[in-house]
Amino acid sequence: MPSLHQAVLVEETMHVLNVKSGGRYLDATLGGGTHSEELLRRCAPDGRVWSLDVDREALKRAGDRFASFGNRWQGLEENFRHLGRVADEHHLPPLDGILFDLGFSSDALADRAKGLSFLEDGPLDMRFGPKANEDGLTAADIINAWSEQDLEKMMRNYGEERFARRIAAGIVKARNVTRIIGTFDLVTVIRSSVPASYERGRIHPATRTFQALRIAVNDELEALKEAIEGSRYILANGGRLAVISFHSLEDRIVKHTFRSMPEFQVLTKKPLCPAPAEIKINPRARSAKLRAIQKR
Ligand SMILES: C[S@@+](CC[C@H](N)C(=O)[O-])C[C@H]1O[C@@H](n2cnc3c(N)ncnc32)[C@H](O)[C@@H]1O
Repeated sequence: MPSLHQAVLVEETMHVLNVKSGGRYLDATLGGGTHSEELLRRCAPDGRVWSLDVDREALKRAGDRFASFGNRWQGLEENFRHLGRVADEHHLPPLDGILFDLGFSSDALADRAKGLSFLEDGPLDMRFGPKANEDGLTAADIINAWSEQDLEKMMRNYGEERFARRIAAGIVKARNVTRIIGTFDLVTVIRSSVPASYERGRIHPATRTFQALRIAVNDELEALKEAIEGSRYILANGGRLAVISFHSLEDRIVKHTFRSMPEFQVLTKKPLCPAPAEIKINPRARSAKLRAIQKR
């Protein structure tokens, strides 16, 4: 089945990466494959692209889609937090560009088995794929085992959830009766823990808790720091690194980690954001921010 995912900031990303014929590029977040395909097209006829993802289905889909590019494309089931090892093991040359387009794809969201959506009933898993974390931790493990204080902290820090304390208390009360195993079980607990007025807010009352859990399960913020750090060693001189983030926690890390790397020049003083026309056709783009740096 073709990918449902609509990539964001494609033109802007190709521009900041200065993609050129014969270049070597790493798409650290393959997803639906649009950015990878665009990289492949623009580095033709002999440039190469390596695409990573922890989501096995994304790699399977891309395998079919990119067959015609032959050995110019290689898909790797790897976690981007281990870029140094990945580059060694797969004999990557110094790269002209690396892209991170963070978060999850619409395909992952639509896959009930991943349990990422609060609108579909599925298991409370939330791993992007088998290599998303080292210890196989799932959202159900967190919900059923973490202390009330740790649950509250997770929702506050990763979800900026203002009812974190009430929801944590609700979770502990509910799990004392029976294990919370499904996404809808968790949504029910959240709904019964927050004030009724929260239902009438701009976002679904489970939005922030689900975001926090997803970040915790996939250890997204630590993985991002390690990935940017890892990129500095595998880029060629003059090579560029571009990161698309979707919320302020990620963008803050990108901005600060970029600033902490003196051998890089910042190419985007302010982050690039999608034009209104893009947001109109793809509302998910509204929170996207693109930042880029270049190795001196
Ligand atoms: C927003 S999507 C990328 C969309 C893609 N740029 C496109 O053109 O369709 C993000 C992808 O990154 C993957 N991902 C998230 N964290 C990862 C990690 N630590 N290592 C590797 N892939 C990861 C997700 O599984 C997801 O497929």
